[in-house]
Amino acid sequence: MQVIAPGIWQWTIGQPEEHTPTRHRAFEPCLKTMAQLPKIEQCPFDPANFKTKPTKRGLQIEIPLAESDELYGLGLQLKSHRQTGKMKKLAVNSDPVADTGDSHAPVPVIMSTNGWGIFVNSLRYVTFQCASNQKVSANAKAASAENDIAINTEDLYAQKQLSEKLLVIEVPHVEGVEVMFIGGPDMVNAVKRYNLYSGGGCLPSLWGLGVWYRAFGRFNQDQVMDMAKHLRDRNIPCDVLGLEPGWQTKAYSCSYVWADERFPQPQKLIDDTKAMGYKLNLWEHAFTHPTSPIYDELKDVSGEYEVWKGLVPDFTIQKAFDTFANYHDEQLVSKGITGFKLDECDSSDFVYSDWSFPLLSEFPSGMDGEQYHSLFGNKYMQCIDSTFRKHNLRTCSAVRNAHALASPFAFVLYSDLYDHKDFVRGVVNMGFTGLLWTPEVRHATSPEDLVRRIQAAMLSPQALINAWYISNPPWKQIDRTLNNDGQMMDNWEELEAHCRVAFELRMQLIPYLYAAFAEYQQTGKPPFRALVMDWPNDSETYNLDSQYMCGDDILVAPMFAGEAHREVYLPEGRWHDYYSGKVYDGKQTITVTATLDQIPMFVKDGTLLPLAKPVQHIETDTVFELTPRCFGENCRDAKLYEDDGVTFDHQLGKFNTVTLTANGKLTREGDFDQVRYVLAD
Ligand code: GAL
Repeated sequence: MQVIAPGIWQWTIGQPEEHTPTRHRAFEPCLKTMAQLPKIEQCPFDPANFKTKPTKRGLQIEIPLAESDELYGLGLQLKSHRQTGKMKKLAVNSDPVADTGDSHAPVPVIMSTNGWGIFVNSLRYVTFQCASNQKVSANAKAASAENDIAINTEDLYAQKQLSEKLLVIEVPHVEGVEVMFIGGPDMVNAVKRYNLYSGGGCLPSLWGLGVWYRAFGRFNQDQVMDMAKHLRDRNIPCDVLGLEPGWQTKAYSCSYVWADERFPQPQKLIDDTKAMGYKLNLWEHAFTHPTSPIYDELKDVSGEYEVWKGLVPDFTIQKAFDTFANYHDEQLVSKGITGFKLDECDSSDFVYSDWSFPLLSEFPSGMDGEQYHSLFGNKYMQCIDSTFRKHNLRTCSAVRNAHALASPFAFVLYSDLYDHKDFVRGVVNMGFTGLLWTPEVRHATSPEDLVRRIQAAMLSPQALINAWYISNPPWKQIDRTLNNDGQMMDNWEELEAHCRVAFELRMQLIPYLYAAFAEYQQTGKPPFRALVMDWPNDSETYNLDSQYMCGDDILVAPMFAGEAHREVYLPEGRWHDYYSGKVYDGKQTITVTATLDQIPMFVKDGTLLPLAKPVQHIETDTVFELTPRCFGENCRDAKLYEDDGVTFDHQLGKFNTVTLTANGKLTREGDFDQVRYVLAD
C-alpha cells in the first residue's frame, strides 16, 4: 500500500488498465490543503483482510465491513440515497429510471458513516454490492447446522447476523485495478479529502448562482429578445439566458454554427442581452455533424461509430481536444458566450441504438466504448472549461454526464426525468462524490406543483427554469407542449407573484451561497449536503432523502404538490423556523406545513444570516446590500467571501474574507480592493 496523498492510500491489485480516471484527471490534487485536514496515521483498511479473485469476467474484491457501516455515494443516484444492502452496477445511462446504479453520473466512490471512503480507479461499469450479508462465514455455517431451516423471522435474522458484512466490488473485464482508501476521520472529512484529491470544489462564476431561464427551443432571435425583455419588465430576477437546439444550423448532430434564418445577427443578440445584464449559454452536444467546420479535422480522432450521423470526438487525443476547444473559443467564447449546456454526453444504448456508441466500439486512444462513456462528460467539460480559462474567466455551465474527480468543474448535472422527489433526492446525495445537480423546473401539473418545484430549484446549486419546450414562462402556461399551443393561465400574474417570491429568496441568499461555494473550493466541503454527512452518528439521519443542508446553517425541507404538510427531522441542537422564528429542540421529528410562498427552512441556533436585498442580475460591480438576521441570542459572526466573481484572480490571493457581526459591523481581510457587500440602511 502506498500513501498517495495525505490520508489516502492506494492499493494496487494485479496489472491495472492503461486508461483510468486518475490518468485522465483534469486537475492536480490539493496536497497542501489535504495536509491541513485531521491527520490520519493509519489506513482505514488492511488489505490482508481482503479477498481478491481474478476471473474471466473480471476482478472481484471482498472487503469486510463493520456492522455499523452505512454507505452512501456512487455518484448521482436519483432512485435511492442510503446504499447499504443494495447492489449497484454503475453504468452511464441517460434515462436512469430504476434503482440499479444506472446514472447520468455514476462515480465508483463510496463513503461510510464510519468516516472512510473507497475510490475504485476504473472507467469500467463497476458493481458495488454494498454490505450485503451474503457470504457464509464459518460461524454462520455452524449456526445453520444447528438450526437448519429458520421457520420464523427471528431465527432467520439471527442467522443473517452471523454472516459477514461485506462490500463486494466487481470490476468487469480487468485483471487488475487500483483502489484508493480515503481516511476521514469522520464522514465529512472523508468527502472533503476526496474532493481535494480531485482538485478541490469548484467556484462557479458569481452570476452562475443567479436565476437561469432557458428559452423555447424553436425561438428565433427576436423571440429570445422578447423573452429577455419580458423577464426584465416583470421584475423576474434572471442572470443566465439559455438557447436550446434551434440556435444551430444542425442540432442532432451539431454544427456549432449559428442558423442564419433564425439568428441572423448573433453578435447583436450577445451584445443586446449583455447590455440587459444577461449571460448567454448555448446548448450543444459533442456529436459533430458533417457540415460542421471542424468535422474534417475531427475525423481521424473520433470513435469508430457515429451518433446521429455525427462524429464522437475522442477528447483524450490532443488534436480532438484542441480542435474542439479552439473552434469554440474563436467562434463563441471570444465573442461573448459565457457558458454551454453539454447535453447527451451520457448517451447510452438503452433508448435507441443510434443514440449512442456500443460498449465495445473502439476509440483512437485505445479506450473502448464502456471506458469512453464513463470519461466522456469529464473530458468534454475539461475541453469547454479550457476555453474560458484561456481568457482567465470562470464559467458556470451545465452537463449531463460526469465521473470520478469532477468536483473542480463548475458544471451542474440535469436530466430529462422529472419526478419531483427523485429530483430532490439528487440534491441530497450528489455531494458525496463531488457532483452538482439541479432539480430543474419545466412544466407543472398545477400551480402548486410549479411553485413547489421552483422553490426546491432555488435552494439548489443551479436555480434553473428549463422552459425548452414551453414558449411562455411556465407561470403563464404551466402545461407541456412541443407545439407552442399551451393553455395560457387566466390568473398568471398571481402565479408569477408566487414564483417571484421564490426567485427573490434565491437572490437574498446569494452572499451566503457564494460563501458556501468558496468553502467548497478551499476545503472541499460540499455546499449542499445530506444530513447524514454532518450527523453520521445519528441513525435518524440515515434514510432522510428529502431534506438537506444548504451551507452550514440552513436545513431545507422542500414541500411537494398535493401534500399539505410534511415531516422534518431536526438533528441535535436548537433550530429556528426561518419564517415564524419558532424555536425547536433538535433530535425530534416535527410535522410542518407551509403557505404557498414558503419552503420549510430551519436555521441553526446562533446563526447570523446575511440576507441581501434581491437584485435582478449580478454584474462585476454589483454591491449587495446586506441585512443581518439573527437566529437566537449571541449570534456567531457570519463569514462571507468577496472577489471579482468572474476570474481566477482569487487563486493569486485577490479575495477578501468578510466578517459580519451581530451588532452590524462589516470588516474585511484580504487583497481584493473592491467592496461587494455593504450594510443596508
Ligand atoms: C435534451 C435535454 C433537454 C433539452 C433538450 C433539447 O436532451 O435534456 O434539457 O435541452 O435536449 O432538445
